[in-house]
Amino acid sequence: MIEEKTLLHIPIMLREAAQFLNLQYGENFLDCTFGGGGHSRYFLENYPNITLFAIDRDPQVVPHAEKLRKEFGHRFQFFTCPFSTIDQLSLPPLRGIFFDFGISTLQLDNETRGFSFRYHTPLDMRMDPQRGMAACEFLETADRRQLIEAIRDFGEERHWRKIITLILSHRGSEVIQYADTFAECIAKNLPKKSHEKIHPATRTFQGLRIAINKELEEIRTALPKAFKQLDQGGRLVAISFHSLEDRIVKQFFNEKAGKAIDCHEKWNGRCSVAEILTKKPITPTDAEIASNHRSRSAKLRALEKF
Ligand SMILES: C[S@@+](CC[C@H](N)C(=O)[O-])C[C@H]1O[C@@H](n2cnc3c(N)ncnc32)[C@H](O)[C@@H]1O
Repeated sequence: MIEEKTLLHIPIMLREAAQFLNLQYGENFLDCTFGGGGHSRYFLENYPNITLFAIDRDPQVVPHAEKLRKEFGHRFQFFTCPFSTIDQLSLPPLRGIFFDFGISTLQLDNETRGFSFRYHTPLDMRMDPQRGMAACEFLETADRRQLIEAIRDFGEERHWRKIITLILSHRGSEVIQYADTFAECIAKNLPKKSHEKIHPATRTFQGLRIAINKELEEIRTALPKAFKQLDQGGRLVAISFHSLEDRIVKQFFNEKAGKAIDCHEKWNGRCSVAEILTKKPITPTDAEIASNHRSRSAKLRALEKF
């Protein structure tokens, strides 16, 4: 069963990621978002001189990591932890660190984890089910400011007011306890033509998932730690799937390269400690997008430490 689902997560921009990481020169690398292990496997199979460390906060990926460990022996080592804690692992200086943000198809298609509105299952959405608060508990207890942050800011849902009213009016009922019933409630109550291409609950689910897993905070904390862990000449490569993630990466890279962090800030003479290798983000080819629809919003950025 697990095996079957692994095949369903198609890793994105494999060749581009490997090239920007400079894997051909060998040494130690870190994959911070192991998932189904698609990138890790590609790196290990195609670059026999590398040693790869990998982490994921989701304990359900451990059997996949175990498999790679059996196949690649001492060339592969896995840790279950959030990537914001990489400074607590004893890792050697690294030549490259890779991030592929968001959730995997493995998680999305799992019938019991609540990431997808297709299933009648408790609305959980935690990447690490042993830590933090499930999404249904968040819907029951969050104050208005937290709900606005999740649905308006992280979900970028323009009907956020309506959805928050729905949540508040359904507190104490089963509707907000389950993924499918919550999604149906949103679909029933939003104007029919407001979401033509995507399910009306898509943005709300995205926002909730980001809030529950503190995804943006994790990225903000991890990037400086990862940069510190890089050897001289080492590279940081990140694939983002939405503008909130990409903005954090872009601003962090600009700061390290001594540039204005965003277009509103004047350059203030910061010194540069790295070079941005992707003036514009790299995006998947048309062929990749045609064969893997999920890749359409991916953006890869890379940075080299001086
Ligand atoms: C898009 S998937 C990665 C897929 C992987 N590259 C592959 O080829 O199979 C993202 C993975 O990162 C993990 N993840 C997300 N945020 C994390 C965090 N803060 N710390 C550790 N792992 C995280 C998720 O659990 C998920 O398995």
